[in-house]
Amino acid sequence: MKKVIAIYPGSFDPPTNGHLDLIERGANIFDELIVAILRNPEKHPLFSLAERRLMLESMTTPFRNVRVETFDGLTVDYALRVSATAILRGIRAISDYEYELQMALMNRKMHPELETVFMMPAEQYSYLSSRLVREVAQLGGSIQGLVPSMVEQRLREKLDPAIKLKNARSPRAGKAEIGKTEKRTGKRK
Ligand code: PNS
Repeated sequence: MKKVIAIYPGSFDPPTNGHLDLIERGANIFDELIVAILRNPEKHPLFSLAERRLMLESMTTPFRNVRVETFDGLTVDYALRVSATAILRGIRAISDYEYELQMALMNRKMHPELETVFMMPAEQYSYLSSRLVREVAQLGGSIQGLVPSMVEQRLREKLDPAIKLKNARSPRAGKAEIGKTEKRTGKRK
């Protein structure tokens, strides 16, 4: 039988538990899922492409049928290059729908053979976005439970380089800090 390959494109700046939830759902229905980080020279992301890739690779290790890649140019062209037949996108609320519909229809216009598949993340992530996570973290609010603990730690280091220095000098302190964060549970493939 033909393998169904899907791509899950996005900025992932940073990846959140909402993204992870969607990856898990996608991994359950597609034979192969490629998490594809957009290389966008016009945007100034908080995390570099390499950092985002490392975080996503670490988050997706438990899924044997998921891999992480980067791409530039049109999403549809990338999808065809990797023999994908579906584009996975998450819809959290009605407000996402208009933009996602526009993108899906434009992508269909360019490559009608590619299907966009929309999935809903778990309810507890329906308000969650990378933009809000960045903003809350930058302003000193708690993002515990909204991103994997490793991403939380990286955000702290990014926003307060002094923490990175402290952890580098005393790695145990860093681990204790990570241990304090809520661990995400759930079914893994
Ligand atoms: O996580 P995001 O930022 O919502 O992801 C948006 C993304 C990367 C899926 C979208 O910007 C995209 O597909 N960009 C690649 C360029 C492209 O194909 N543009 C035409 C879209 S119809």
